[in-house]
Amino acid sequence: MTDQATWNMVDDYLNSKLLGHDDALDATSSASAAAGLPPIAVSPMQGRLLELIARSIKARNVLEIGTLGGYSTICLARAVGPGGRVITLEFDPRHAQVARSSIEAAGLSGLVDVRVGRALDLLPTLSGGESDPFDLVFVDADKTSNADYVDWAIRLSHSGSVIIVDNVVRGGTVADPTQPSADARGNRRMFDLVQSDDRLDASAIQTVGSKG
Ligand code: SAH
Ligand code: DHB
Ligand code: MG
Repeated sequence: MTDQATWNMVDDYLNSKLLGHDDALDATSSASAAAGLPPIAVSPMQGRLLELIARSIKARNVLEIGTLGGYSTICLARAVGPGGRVITLEFDPRHAQVARSSIEAAGLSGLVDVRVGRALDLLPTLSGGESDPFDLVFVDADKTSNADYVDWAIRLSHSGSVIIVDNVVRGGTVADPTQPSADARGNRRMFDLVQSDDRLDASAIQTVGSKG
């Protein structure tokens, strides 16, 4: 009972018990698929977890790195609620356009600012802006730059902020120092940074589910 079919079955069960129907997120998934975006958004269960973490810390200002079609953005925007703000950074203008349209359809465009460009170019422009410091940063773009993103997340946040990094295990390759994969090496560099920074308390979890 430890294969993809099982993980899908369990996610289906959990979704049916805990999430119910969600027209806005279903439409967001459909729009992303129709536009040919890769199927790599957070799963519904992961999206709900993001929303609950953000609500738990009463996050008002959220930064996301890696928008894709706006699925996780919508989860975060629901959490900040009226008066809150999500700034999300996306390299690909086509992804950003799909995201803007789904965020608009979800009724959340007033809370979300999709900015187009390389995250490492955009992050310095957020310093000292109206949303800095951020209460929560969700890092979910190219894994090669994760150490730099976490470094920026620290600079742009405050004591008590939460930084969440997706995809840190990469099928286990992170734990293998001989791995040539750029993602694995990027995540190892990120963990080196986390280990050496006294300001951070960190945990990491290996996940299974509909995303593998
Ligand atoms: N957070 C989304 C998934 C993001 S997928 C969700 O769960 O719904 C990763 C996204 O990061 C892709 O859209 C990709 O185009 C974008 N990306 C990759 N490299 C980037 C970079 N250097 N700067 C900004 N965005 C980048
Ligand atoms: C990939 C990227 C992601 O952000 C993710 O959650 C899953 C897969 C990828 O690039 O393969
Ligand atoms: Mg991801």
